[in-house]
Amino acid sequence: WIASGVGLAIAYLFGSTPTGYLAGKLLKGIDIREHGSKSTGATNVLRTLGKWPALVVLLVDVLKGAAAIIFASWFYPWFPTLPFVTPPTTFDLQTWLPWAVCLAGLAVLLGHGRSIWLNFTGGKSAATGLGVLLALSWPVGVGAAAVFGAVLVVFRIVSLGSMLAALTAIALICGWEQPLPYRLLVIAGSIYVIARHRANIQRLLAGTEPRLGQGSPASK
Ligand code: G3P
Repeated sequence: WIASGVGLAIAYLFGSTPTGYLAGKLLKGIDIREHGSKSTGATNVLRTLGKWPALVVLLVDVLKGAAAIIFASWFYPWFPTLPFVTPPTTFDLQTWLPWAVCLAGLAVLLGHGRSIWLNFTGGKSAATGLGVLLALSWPVGVGAAAVFGAVLVVFRIVSLGSMLAALTAIALICGWEQPLPYRLLVIAGSIYVIARHRANIQRLLAGTEPRLGQGSPASK
């Protein structure tokens, strides 16, 4: 339980790293949560700060997600080998590890969306979710990214691409030979990402969601 708690807290802290917020403060002295869609994600960084900061934020946010999964996969098997730790006799790492990784994946998504450093505000966890997917099952991540790219090329609406990519991830992980905890992580994580897009869904339905390069939601 100690290992679970420590691992979850570290994954959550990875996610909480406020990349977009820091970019706004360091580059322009602004709080990005007061601009555009008010999200700290790379799309809002793009419309508020420009393409290079957005690219860096995107990369770091993807890496955060991947790092949490890679860290959990290493940390949980390592922890019981410590000299002061006596694993319970019923302890079965093979069974337990995928569940621990699943929880770490959810924790990093939650951290990005509800950062401890930003009064539990943040981004929509799409880029961090891509990092989780790539580390968990890279073909699923590549498939979701391909759908995102295709939607972006055709419609030029990032939020639509993110949500369709999240749905694609669910379809792919369910059709793939994967442990149950990984499937549950992708399903729950994708639902979380879509739920974070509530305001975007309302704008999409109202026909007011801005396309890439066409201003910000707040100015519409
Ligand atoms: O990943 C976030 C993206 O899907 C939407 O961002 O800023 O347009 O709400 P934004």
